[in-house]
Amino acid sequence: MPPQSKPLKSSFFSQEPLFGIDKAILPKTVGAEFPPFAKETEIFYNLNKTHRIAALKKGMGTNSKGLFNFRGKMSWLIAAVVVGGFAGTAFGHDAARGKVVYQVCTACHGAGGEGNKAVNAPHIAGLNAWYVEAQLNKFRSGMRGTHPRDIEGMQMRPMSLTIATEDDVKNVAEYVETLKPNKGKTTIKGNSDRGKNYYAVCMACHGDKGQGNQALNSPPLVRLNDWYILSQLKKFRSGVRGTNPEDITGMQMQPMSMTLPNEQAMLDVIAYINTLWED
Ligand code: HEC
Ligand code: HEC
Repeated sequence: MPPQSKPLKSSFFSQEPLFGIDKAILPKTVGAEFPPFAKETEIFYNLNKTHRIAALKKGMGTNSKGLFNFRGKMSWLIAAVVVGGFAGTAFGHDAARGKVVYQVCTACHGAGGEGNKAVNAPHIAGLNAWYVEAQLNKFRSGMRGTHPRDIEGMQMRPMSLTIATEDDVKNVAEYVETLKPNKGKTTIKGNSDRGKNYYAVCMACHGDKGQGNQALNSPPLVRLNDWYILSQLKKFRSGVRGTNPEDITGMQMQPMSMTLPNEQAMLDVIAYINTLWED
């Protein structure tokens, strides 16, 4: 989704975190002596050059030490408002910023989000931003990717923690959604006619075309790699995924995996899901 279609969050006094720092503390620091925004300033200067230039165009000067030229309480108040506004622009769930964050992800998921079976990293291109964000937050909080038998999840979890802020989680999720999905190779064999019968259960939440349903927190299945679906169904069935008491949506899926009595049933339902892809 293009960034301009999202409302910009520029309210300085809102409770939204600023660079991951609770903004509620900021009004209290306005009027304090220099450097009231040391932390924010430092993070600000770690941003990439484009953003700094954008900020300079907004009238923020810097001296040779890279600190703001502003002096005095009033100036700091103005700076805070400008930085607040700037934060809204730079981190307004913006796919361009998300692309920068995504660089680290390319190592496993590929530049186009195509995935890489050799490292168990699934195809994620075009996956809905709401779902990507939810999963990244699960990895970050440890709801997913901490079970001792979740080898692949444990590879992903530290990667989710490389994302510095909540806003960048949203930005990278937004960027992943913009990537063009591509149909991977069929790697499993199953009976799609039998699979269709099993899929009757799945349809209630994942949709008749496997398109997913945000209202039920159910992701699309149609764009996933078949080998990845198999691995996740096994994880749900064995309780490696979807059993953490805080993982409400995972716990909705977990009992559903039990409707597939054995591996053959999983292969059959996946064979059916493979037939649902539409260009
Ligand atoms: C070291 C390799 C590696 C890197 C780097 C990596 N991932 Fe992953 N990612 C994985 C693996 C492996 C899985 C599969 C986990 C599983 O099987 O449960 C995964 C799973 C995911 C999922 C879950 C997909 C789904 O359908 O539920 C998302 C979303 C994701 N990664 C996004 C990202 C993003 C965004 C980044 C960059 C910040 C990233 N990954 C970096 C290896 C990686
Ligand atoms: C009651 C609703 C519901 C039903 C029915 C259901 N699911 Fe799910 N499913 C979910 C939810 C919710 C999630 C997301 C879990 C999470 O947030 O981690 C999910 C996740 C999944 C995932 C993981 C996708 C990914 O990208 O990692 C797979 C695979 C899956 N479901 C397959 C199935 C299959 C196959 C069936 C039928 C046997 C089925 N589901 C039935 C709700 C459902």
